[in-house]
Amino acid sequence: MTKSIAFTEYGSADVLHVQESEVPAPGPGQVRIAVRAAGVNPLDHKVRAGFMQDAFPVEFPHVPGAEASGVIEAVGEGVEGLVVGDEVFGRTLSGAYAEQAVADASRLTLKPDTLSWEQAAAIPVAAETSYRVLELLGVRPGETLLIHGAAGGVGTVAVQLAVARGVKVIGTASEGNHRHLRDLGAIPVLYGEGLVERVRAVAPDGVDAALDTSGRPEALAASIELIGGTDRVVEIGNPGPAGEFGVRFSAGGPDEDRSEPAFTEVLALVASGRLSLPIHRAYPLTDAAQAQRASEAGHLTGKIVLTV
Ligand SMILES: NC(=O)c1ccc[n+]([C@@H]2O[C@H](COP(=O)([O-])OP(=O)(O)OC[C@H]3O[C@@H](n4cnc5c(N)ncnc54)[C@H](OP(=O)(O)O)[C@@H]3O)[C@@H](O)[C@H]2O)c1
Repeated sequence: MTKSIAFTEYGSADVLHVQESEVPAPGPGQVRIAVRAAGVNPLDHKVRAGFMQDAFPVEFPHVPGAEASGVIEAVGEGVEGLVVGDEVFGRTLSGAYAEQAVADASRLTLKPDTLSWEQAAAIPVAAETSYRVLELLGVRPGETLLIHGAAGGVGTVAVQLAVARGVKVIGTASEGNHRHLRDLGAIPVLYGEGLVERVRAVAPDGVDAALDTSGRPEALAASIELIGGTDRVVEIGNPGPAGEFGVRFSAGGPDEDRSEPAFTEVLALVASGRLSLPIHRAYPLTDAAQAQRASEAGHLTGKIVLTV
């Protein structure tokens, strides 16, 4: 038997509890990992609260978590290039808030020794999402990119990927995160009333593209006003406003997955010291409810992770 964190009804973080279940078996093309750390993402608490029943229907009991680092302990049929004992990180198929989880081998990569278990577990969702969105936006060197919510998990990686590609990045954040954004190479601006004027002041030559992670209608309205159209705006936080404004929403389903090239680019930048994703706080697995409450409260710098 193996331990995980599960919920059997939608609700507040109080519905999360420890459960014991059968050790999952990897199917063809899959591996099972002994989880060392799991990333906590806003999607986890949105699903738990019941807000995502159409887009992400779940069966109870449901174990949250979509990304982890750990050691491979079983390999399914047809898996090539990964063996038992490999230290890996990536996206998981079964819930990552667990002692053991199953993943598609193609969505894992070897963990370099220079990354801790916590750092590696924090990377997959942020890296894949950032890479995918920069590709959708077609951002080129010398262009100016506006990122709303630039200090969050996705924003922190998106800023560094874009800066490394020679893009000028303007990032919105609350005051407390402005130093963090400057350290990443972005120009920080406050979100809220007057955003368009503040962005124009730091980007007199205009803005070419925008990524909104905040899910706020006003972030999309400001982006469209600054860019002069919707073509080069992508929303990832909330499909509602994206639909209203005619902006592309990228949900990140398996058909859109860019894990492989994203991990390659991010690991190269990590190795050259040009990308890092701070751990806002690490909680033990059994404190998953507290970790989700902190994630829901927001205003993090980087990511929350669970350690196993
Ligand atoms: N579609 C996809 O593929 C995909 C993938 C990953 C994540 N997501 C979604 O993308 C969103 C961001 O994820 P994340 O992991 O980066 O979350 P996060 O780490 O919690 O970051 C959220 C960010 O939103 C900022 N924010 C709060 N209020 C804001 C406002 N009024 N205007 C602008 N920014 C504001 C916060 O900035 P301050 O802390 O500075 O206040 C924070 O940096 C979530 O909704 C998540 O579910 C979607």
